[in-house]
Amino acid sequence: MTKIMVVGSSGPQDEHENETAMTIDVNAKTIGELALEFPRAIAVMERWQIDYCCHHNRSVAEACLAAGVPVAELVREIGDPRSQSTGGWDQKPLADLQRYIVDTHHAYTRQSLETISLLADKVLVRHGGVHTELVEVHRLVFELATELLMHMRREEEIVFPQIEAMEKGAEPASTSGVQSMIVEHERPGEILVTLRQITAGYALPGDACLSYRALYERLRDLETDLREHFQLENEVLFPSVIRLGQPRLLGVRTGI
Ligand SMILES: [Fe+2]
Ligand SMILES: [Fe+2]
Repeated sequence: MTKIMVVGSSGPQDEHENETAMTIDVNAKTIGELALEFPRAIAVMERWQIDYCCHHNRSVAEACLAAGVPVAELVREIGDPRSQSTGGWDQKPLADLQRYIVDTHHAYTRQSLETISLLADKVLVRHGGVHTELVEVHRLVFELATELLMHMRREEEIVFPQIEAMEKGAEPASTSGVQSMIVEHERPGEILVTLRQITAGYALPGDACLSYRALYERLRDLETDLREHFQLENEVLFPSVIRLGQPRLLGVRTGI
């Protein structure tokens, strides 16, 4: 277990158990740095109307003071839920692995998509006239969000409950639901490859503002997280289901 610790001029103000090893000096770290370092930070700052863009060089303490938000509350809310251990899942119940996937990867993906969608809108409006590739970036971001949100919902509402029931001894059925989930992982991967291509590997132009930088940082982070997320499902969860069931899982053809 590691910690986030907020450090101010009068010493530690708040200590929060979390998964990310991090000590934040709220008088030295800028609000812009915080926005870029923590995947959830921008969504939280937008909600609390903390200016992390135009005044990104303000310290975290100054930015919070200007917005009337307690620093400790901000830090508590942006704790990163992604960095738990993922090892040894092949030795644990599938229900535990599914819970981990939903609580970490699905939660992170939803938070990240909220931020990325917001940033894609903002950056398109501000920079789309000069950097025309942002029109396609914007379109792809919304396709990515639609695909992923539908996919995670199908997993949570149909496939994962069926796997849990099967693990408890439910009657054998088809594995087509699991196969459909594996196929559905392909399009998000393709979209992320295209995003990398049309942004020249998320290269920033000289006039990029902090929101522009944050959009590309968040897309990179999402790609990294999705790789781990899909790897756990494709290589641990779903093969375990197929081995256990032979065949036991009901098909997922109904959609939501
Ligand atoms: Fe998933
Ligand atoms: Fe999935």
